[in-house]
Amino acid sequence: MKNTVIAASLLSADFARLGEDCERAHASGCDWLHFDIMDGMFVPSISFGGPVLRSVAGVSKLPIDVHMMVTEPIRYIRRYAELGAAGITIHAEAAKDVRAAIAEIRSCGVRAGLALKPATPVSSIFELIPLVDMVLVMTVEPGFGGQEFMSETLPKIAEVRQIAESLGQPLDIEVDGGINGITAALVREAGANVLVSGSYLFAAQDMSAAVSSLR
Ligand code: DX5
Ligand code: ZN
Repeated sequence: MKNTVIAASLLSADFARLGEDCERAHASGCDWLHFDIMDGMFVPSISFGGPVLRSVAGVSKLPIDVHMMVTEPIRYIRRYAELGAAGITIHAEAAKDVRAAIAEIRSCGVRAGLALKPATPVSSIFELIPLVDMVLVMTVEPGFGGQEFMSETLPKIAEVRQIAESLGQPLDIEVDGGINGITAALVREAGANVLVSGSYLFAAQDMSAAVSSLR
């Protein structure tokens, strides 16, 4: 398995100083920037979209990991790929034709990810796992930063890792929500290798130390 990838969730950044916070994440040893797009339909809140992605891509030295919490994401995939996403993750619950949305991501030449809300079983995406580079196991209900980690999601991480191993697939398993210096060890132990963290990293006095505590 690959080394742990740390993705800083910009949802917890200071939007008035977004460029500085992107640089802070880079200087602190983060590997990716995680970019949460929320449409107010798939999740209750609205975050940011294309114009902000364009600005971040213009200054970021790190790959941008786009997490689409958007109903029928196929409508926006090409646009976000063109604006600079290195990878796009869609929710299995958000699309009528998940295969078509994954194919659209692939046709744009960016990494394809598939996300599961806490209540969605791994069995529902079993046949789709070979089609993606990454599965995102949500460790909170999507929609807001700063929530408490849901430990009942740990068996799902292990289940996805077991499926990937049985397929001989070098799958990335990402977790998102409530990741801090304590929960990071639990998700790594379960098989996750891409850790998204927002409030824990951006609230830290010493972000480099916080990043190290996740590895
Ligand atoms: C929540 C988002 C997360 C969020 C994580 O729906 O997908 O990326 O920013 O925030 P923390 O790390 O604060 O739980
Ligand atoms: Zn996210």
